[in-house]
This record gives sequence, structure tokens and C-alpha cells, in this order.
Amino acid sequence: MKPIIAPSILSADFGNLARDIEMINRSEAEWVHIDIMDGVFVPNISFGFPVLKYVAKLSRKPLDVHLMIVSPEKFIPEVKALGAHTMNVHYEACPHLHRVIQQIREAGMQPAVTINPATPVDVLKDIIRDVYMVLLMSVNPGFGGQKFIEHSLEKVRELKALIERTGSQALIEVDGGVNLETGARLVEAGADALVAGNAIFADPEPEKMIRMLHGL
Ligand code: DX5
Ligand code: ZN
Repeated sequence: MKPIIAPSILSADFGNLARDIEMINRSEAEWVHIDIMDGVFVPNISFGFPVLKYVAKLSRKPLDVHLMIVSPEKFIPEVKALGAHTMNVHYEACPHLHRVIQQIREAGMQPAVTINPATPVDVLKDIIRDVYMVLLMSVNPGFGGQKFIEHSLEKVRELKALIERTGSQALIEVDGGVNLETGARLVEAGADALVAGNAIFADPEPEKMIRMLHGL
């Protein structure tokens, strides 16, 4: 089965954001991946809701919103107002994760839980049946263009086994350092969706790169 491709606009040309979103609209990508950072949970700040309002208006692809912020539940109404399809919150940022997942679902979005590279897959055992998707970070969150952490492949396999063992329907998405080479191995290991920033936007032919990733 072809992987879902979610280009990350963190690596887009912000001077030509409308052009880059139009490229994604034309492409075979299923989703647009949106990285929101607060400078507290991660050591970087990306963009906020005033900018994203325009991204949402221009995008014809469902929005896969990844919040790298503390207390993400505070922004459920804002993410909902964007018309987001999926809201990804970090396990490490939510002491009351079960409640946050229910709140996201009640707001009418698909809830997803994200784990950092040093967080073991096992901690998801009691939430895996409640989430639409797990987003596995294959780099430490905060920046685009980082090197893929090899151990992530083992985590994809562990997560796949957990999903099968528990009868969960959760999708597996992987984010960080994804390119044609790491992407092929991730799909083989069981990934359903791939986020890619640098691999797409640093390529002279980004639409073709999306097509190639989609063909993995
Ligand atoms: C990293 C972000 C990623 C990032 C991926 O904190 O969550 O979505 O944009 O970028 P690449 O594909 O360049 O590693
Ligand atoms: Zn992301």
C-alpha cells in the first residue's frame, strides 16, 4: 500500500508560501504537515495561528497539525478553527493525555499522539486504542533538515506489533530525516504515513519528489 505523504511546510520558502502550498495542492501528497513550536517544549519557534489561517485558506489538502508546545489542549479551539484533520500532541507535553485525546475527538478532529526519540513505544500501551495515529519522531523535534535516527526503524516495528496485539486501528506516521532512502525502509518496517520537509523543498523538483516518495 502506498504511504500517505505529508509535506512539512516548515521547510517551504516563506517568501513564496502561497506558491509552495499551490505546489502541494497540485501534487500527489495526501496531507499538509504543520509544525507549531513554542520555544519552550522545543528550542525553536515556528509560526502561529495568524499565519496558519492563510495556510489553511490556501490548502486543499487536509491539515496534519503537529504541536510542539506545552499544554497543547489550550489550543484545541484554534486548531479546530483552522479546519485541521489531525491534531498531534506530544506524550511528553501531556500529563493527562487520555483527557486531551478525548477533547480533540469531541472537537471533531482526529487525535494523534507523538513521541520523541527517547520515549519508548511501550508507554502507548494504554492509549493506543484511543488514537487515530501515532507520530513517531525520528529526529529530536524543533528543526527541519536533521539526520534520521536509525533506531526509529525498530520503534516502527515495535509500534506495529503493539497495534496488532491490541487490535488498535492506529496509523503510524514518521517525522524527521525522511527521504527516499530512509522512507523506503520505514515503509518496509510498517509506516503508513511519511512527513518530509527538507527532502521535498530542497529538491529542484518538489512535486516529482512527492510522487517518488508516494511510490515507495
Ligand atoms: C521537526 C518537525 C518536522 C520537520 C521535518 O521538529 O516536526 O516536521 O519539518 O523536517 P525534515 O523532513 O527536513 O527532517
Ligand atoms: Zn512535525
